[in-house]
Amino acid sequence: MTTAQRPSLDERRGAAAERLQAFGQQHLLRFWDRLTDAARSNLLDEIEGLPLELLQQACAERGPEAKPDLRDIEPVHPIVMDRVDAEHFEREGSAVIRGNRVAAFTVAGGQGTRLGCDAPKGTFPATPILRKSLFEVFAESIGAARARWSARIPWLIMTSPLNHAETGRFLAAHDWFGLGQQSVHLIVQGTLPSLDRAGRILLASEGSIALNPDGHGGALRALEQHGWLDRLASEGIDTLSYFQVDNPLCKPIDALFIGLHHAHPESSAEVSSKVVAKSSPAEKVGVFCQRGDSRFVMEYSNMPQAMTEARDGAGGLLHRAGSIAVHVFGVPFLQRLVHQGHGLPLHRAFKKVPCLDPDTGTPLVPTEPNAVKLESFIFDTVPAARRALVAETTRVEEFAPIKNAVGDDSPATSSALQSERAAQWLERCGVPIARDPSTGRCLAEIELSPRTALDAASLKGCANLPKRVGEGERITL
Ligand code: UD1
Repeated sequence: MTTAQRPSLDERRGAAAERLQAFGQQHLLRFWDRLTDAARSNLLDEIEGLPLELLQQACAERGPEAKPDLRDIEPVHPIVMDRVDAEHFEREGSAVIRGNRVAAFTVAGGQGTRLGCDAPKGTFPATPILRKSLFEVFAESIGAARARWSARIPWLIMTSPLNHAETGRFLAAHDWFGLGQQSVHLIVQGTLPSLDRAGRILLASEGSIALNPDGHGGALRALEQHGWLDRLASEGIDTLSYFQVDNPLCKPIDALFIGLHHAHPESSAEVSSKVVAKSSPAEKVGVFCQRGDSRFVMEYSNMPQAMTEARDGAGGLLHRAGSIAVHVFGVPFLQRLVHQGHGLPLHRAFKKVPCLDPDTGTPLVPTEPNAVKLESFIFDTVPAARRALVAETTRVEEFAPIKNAVGDDSPATSSALQSERAAQWLERCGVPIARDPSTGRCLAEIELSPRTALDAASLKGCANLPKRVGEGERITL
């Protein structure tokens, strides 16, 4: 459309008013007369992007977590990665990586509220000694994987409108951590509006809607809308290695896991997911469950206490397959979902959202949750897979998330686990490590870069390993 054909502001307002009226959201235009033309145009852009039918449906259904369906739920019995024929599956996975069929995909659009971090979470200093950022750790790992398998491995990072520009600036300022700008791609996710309890969309100001990122499930829409699913397919990439921005121990490219995804008889190569045994009933992880042949993740906030605490015959947790939010997706699978118009359900969470009071129009800074935020979750794709493989890995090898400023899943617990993994890898290379005799805790801080070794086996070949690591030492490798 040329500029001359563009509808005028008045025409757009008329169309918007009619559409809003049909959904009971006409209050969004109540301050129209006070806005400048530029502000009016922005507001209309936001209104025109609202998925009003979907929102109405989400309010009518009251969201999947309103009443979880608990009938016939069984625990999932994952494939234990330590017990498979690792050599065989690693060979399979390596061939896929070497064939340039794999891209890494980080979801980094979240807001880091619990960590109290205003900057994009990927910029957070995460390693025990050098305080490298999460982005740097992943970049080192992807760079090392490129070198090891002589593969291209593009890196896709999903950002949100709230942190997109800052993420780009950070990566550019660090020269894309040596990966080359042309091989790192930022993809901005969409947004959804916050609602009051009556389902009315909230205004953040007189001329803007209170919008939040649409959840990591927004990845499906973002990949499609920005043309990435077709682009990956046209480049021969059929395997998307997905991980969250908060976990410095994750292996962005894992040949064994990719091999299981492509070659294990239990897999349909559509979606594969990693789990660890839950550490306690209270641990805040989603849990893989099963109903008949269909597997799905039940989010922790949604799981009834009796189910969280249920024990099996041996006294262990019955539902213990804790999701670490690491998946491999088949690109054709994601394309199939998009082409079938598979919409992910919208989950609802009550949050504090600064906004204009929908009745009086006065600014509100809530001290209690006042609004419903809507998000879709990527793991809701799992039930749509023909078969979904679930693989259990060891916590210390792959899961040390940074979510909270203190306590569980904090920078301190993550650093301790990063040191512990490095210690265990060194011990496997025959290097003695000082440990507390009663607790077994590693008494040194060890930071091991993915550039030095991607796993314990590759550490064995490294020159300059320490002879021993004593109490209180701080070692970087
Ligand atoms: C998440 C999972 C949980 C899993 C745990 C493992 C959800 C709802 N729950 O919990 O099942 O066991 O991780 O650590 O995901 N993000 C976006 N865009 C958004 C929202 C989030 O990119 O709109 C990204 C974040 O940047 C982060 C990831 O998604 O990388 C997880 O988000 P978060 O909301 O922190 O999930 P958790 O509650 O930690």
